[in-house]
Formats: sequence, C-alpha cells, structure tokens
Amino acid sequence: MSDTTPVTSAWAGAVPRLAARGLVHRFGDTSALAGVDVDLADGESLAVMGPSGSGKSTLLHVLAGILVPTSGTVALRGLEVQALSEKERSLLRRRRYGFVFQLGQLLSELSALENVALPAMLTGASRADAQASAGQWLAALGLAGAEGRRPGELSGGQAQRVAVARALITRPEVVFADEPTGSLDQATGHDVMQVLRDATRAVGASLVVVTHDADVAAWCDRRIDVRDGRVVAPGSTTGGGAGPRPGERDAGVLPAHLGAARVADVFGAGGAR
Ligand SMILES: Nc1ncnc2c1ncn2[C@@H]1O[C@H](COP(=O)(O)OP(=O)(O)OP(=O)(O)O)[C@@H](O)[C@H]1O
Ligand SMILES: [Mg+2]
Repeated sequence: MSDTTPVTSAWAGAVPRLAARGLVHRFGDTSALAGVDVDLADGESLAVMGPSGSGKSTLLHVLAGILVPTSGTVALRGLEVQALSEKERSLLRRRRYGFVFQLGQLLSELSALENVALPAMLTGASRADAQASAGQWLAALGLAGAEGRRPGELSGGQAQRVAVARALITRPEVVFADEPTGSLDQATGHDVMQVLRDATRAVGASLVVVTHDADVAAWCDRRIDVRDGRVVAPGSTTGGGAGPRPGERDAGVLPAHLGAARVADVFGAGGAR
C-alpha cells in the first residue's frame, strides 16, 4: 500500500466483511435506495441514521439479503448475496446473520429459553444443546431466572435482551438491528444498546444498527446518514472509542452483568453452531 492511499475509514486496509456497491432499490415507482456504497469491517459496528422514509430499513434489508436490490451488489466476504437464490439467501441469513428488530419479534407462545434456543436448533443443534446454550446466553445477558417466562411476561428491555441472545446464539458474522431500542425509554434503550454492542463484539461479529437516536448511534464505531436513499454525511461518532478495536474479543468492556467469567463461559463454550 503506498503512502498516497486515501484513508477513508478508521479500518482502511482491512478487507471488508460486507461490501455494498451501487445499491438501488425501487418499490414500484418509489425510489427507496438511489445508489449506496457501504463497507463493514470485521467486528465493526455501524449506525445508520436518517429521517423517516429515507431508506434505512430498505438498506438494512438489502444488506441482509432479505430484499434483492434492483441493481448493485452486496458481497459477504466476496460472496455476492444478491446473486443467490431465495433458498440460499434464507440459509445464509439463518447460519451467518443475526437479527434484532423493534419489539414484537419473539414468539409469544414460547418461553424466553425456547425463543433463544430456536435459531440454534434450526441450524442443527439438538434441543438439549440448544437449550443449554440458550440458558448460558440468558444468564450472561442478565436474565437468569427469566428462562421460563413468555415474552408477554417480560419488560420491554428484558424482551430485547432475549432478542439479542436469540440473534447471537448461532455466533453470526453480522448482526442487523432495526430500531432495536425504538420501543424503550431512553435509559433502557441505552442499556440494551450497550448489551447488543458488547455481546456482538464478544463473538467477533460486525453490527449494523438503524436508529433515530444519536445517543444510540454513539455506541457504534461509525455512523452514516441516509437521505432520500443516498448516504449524505458519513461521520464518526465518539462513543465507540474506549472499547477494543473491531474484531477483538474482549470481555473487559462488558457491563457488570456481562462479567468476564460468565462471558467466558458462554463464548468459550463452543456454542451451538
Ligand atoms: N414494501 C414497500 N412497498 C412500497 N414502498 C415501500 C416499501 N417499503 C418501503 N417503501 C418506501 O420506500 C421508502 C424508504 O422506506 P424505508 O422503510 O426504507 O424508510 P426508513 O428510513 O426505514 O423509515 P422509518 O424511519 O420510518 O422506518 C419510503 O418511501 C417507503 O414508503
Ligand atoms: Mg425503517
């Protein structure tokens, strides 16, 4: 690399885990994405901000292989996701990605433990192994004792922690979160965001978070702003500076309830994969 190579991000030089180029997406006559380029480095957390209707969720859905872009490419470590079949994309999402949405994503008839265990079972773990791993995850995220409760018996913040555990039990490469704190009060929202970021880092995953809240975005390493389907003002936030570099596994930054010993138990246990 020469000295004149432009430095475009804090992690320049690393091959991006996820690389999107020229993303355009139309819903009928509506242009939702009008040419977006995004890179996501190993272990990096990226906040996506912008007004309602600007295309944030569409961008997240295209990056995650839920929607196929009208044109443009999305590569996961060089694998062009938009070129895969529906079934291949579905398997990729199940095995290599994790998802956290606003409230209401948990299956209401299942207990917290069963909700967290389900993705592990869908990727081939036995019920016993998946439930053992789910129990460790719930304990690590401060939910010991709540294993048997159904989503309707949890607070909003607790339900989102269950959703974080569910997203991470398969040890995904990228976690996608659309307004994960959108239904929570500010303090609870920041608590959930910290858990989401730290647990994602602890498994070495990268993270994309759509949010309206600049304070939530500040938990991420980097932020982009979307307006009318375009990235307009890429800028760094300051909140991620104190933690480890992207990709590092470091339990030292975890909040007290995610203490190092528990995290080692969970993340060192091999998990259900
Ligand atoms: N399934 C759909 N069918 C038709 N138009 C859609 C669909 N989904 C989104 N759109 C349109 O695409 C544009 C971008 O929507 P998108 O949901 O990505 O915005 P957003 O930034 O996530 O907004 P919000 O902050 O309100 O969630 C909007 O004009 C929206 O109306
Ligand atoms: Mg949205």
